[in-house]
Amino acid sequence: MRTNVKLTVGVVATMLAGLVSAQDVQVVKIGHVAPMSGPQAHFGKDNENGARMAVDDLNTQNIVLAGKKIKFELVPEDDASDPKQGTAAAQKLCDAKVSGVVGHLNSGTTIPASKIYHECGVPMITGAATNPDLTKPGYKEIFRIIANDNALGAGLAFYAADALKLKKVAVIDDRTAYGQGVAEVFRETAKKKGIEIVDQQFTNDKATDFMAILTAIKSKKPDAIFFGGMDAQAGPMLRQMEQLGMGNMKFFGGDGLCTTEITKLVGGAKTISNVVCAEGGSSIQKMPGGTAWKNRYDTKFPKQYQIYSPYTYDATMLLADAMKRADSWDPKVYAPKLIESSYKGVTTNIQFEPTGELKNAAITLYVYKDNKKFPLN
Ligand code: ALA
Repeated sequence: MRTNVKLTVGVVATMLAGLVSAQDVQVVKIGHVAPMSGPQAHFGKDNENGARMAVDDLNTQNIVLAGKKIKFELVPEDDASDPKQGTAAAQKLCDAKVSGVVGHLNSGTTIPASKIYHECGVPMITGAATNPDLTKPGYKEIFRIIANDNALGAGLAFYAADALKLKKVAVIDDRTAYGQGVAEVFRETAKKKGIEIVDQQFTNDKATDFMAILTAIKSKKPDAIFFGGMDAQAGPMLRQMEQLGMGNMKFFGGDGLCTTEITKLVGGAKTISNVVCAEGGSSIQKMPGGTAWKNRYDTKFPKQYQIYSPYTYDATMLLADAMKRADSWDPKVYAPKLIESSYKGVTTNIQFEPTGELKNAAITLYVYKDNKKFPLN
């Protein structure tokens, strides 16, 4: 009888302790936005996976902020690469009182959304949107942890002129903030390096038929095409270049087409071997701890790796790092700590310029051999 009573008391005590600790748990919401639907959903999935992996890792760290046990929760949103849906998603996340946002993917969605985050005072870190205009307004809440298009476009133009000694290039862009911006940097840098721009054509980020613009370009006989746009267009464009007998032309592009997915989207066209693309950051093999991280990612999310997930992982970790240093998840309290970050991430040691751009941003050029992507540097 006595034993039974003791047991009961013990059980009640345990239950009470459980209740108290449950009340002490504070859920901290981290928003993530990217295209989860439409032709760029593979990028969105990869990005969201990176943020989810970081949240899972953070939840094993038993983080305590302001005396409360913290449970991080990812709040995923889909902007479908559409600027209007991007601002709607941003407003939704502000209303949901997230502590920070990782995203967006496209410059075209990220730039208008950044104004909304600035107005509601929620920090946003992108590891994918590369148009330099993002940081121009000087919003204190907005950060980028990857090289921008000034570096990508110029890096490719230097390679075209200095390494490949190309003389004539045609430029196509998809008229998005990203495509137009990166093409302009390439074009202007190439001109300064003595390359002649023999044609300039335009498409959009939904198109799949490029026969007319490619035929126009073919008659100008360029050594290469630069395409400012995403892999969903670059894949069919390369296929149609093969059909039109343009297999002798190099094909340049920025990070938006420098993916794993493009090897599928070209549908076996040999023109994939003509691609030279630039991506912000070091190759995963050269990132500190990159290979080990990638192995973990591949185990958790098989065959979904594209390009930016190490950056969305680091962006999520960076938000948590600033919260730890501020001992708070309140954006008003911890946001000012972000600019002072010195965080050893998977991608690099992350520190910021006063503008919110990454300090010492690297870029890497890639080529495709036997339908596989290889870093050139
Ligand atoms: N870097 C691409 C963009 O800015 C994805 O839209």
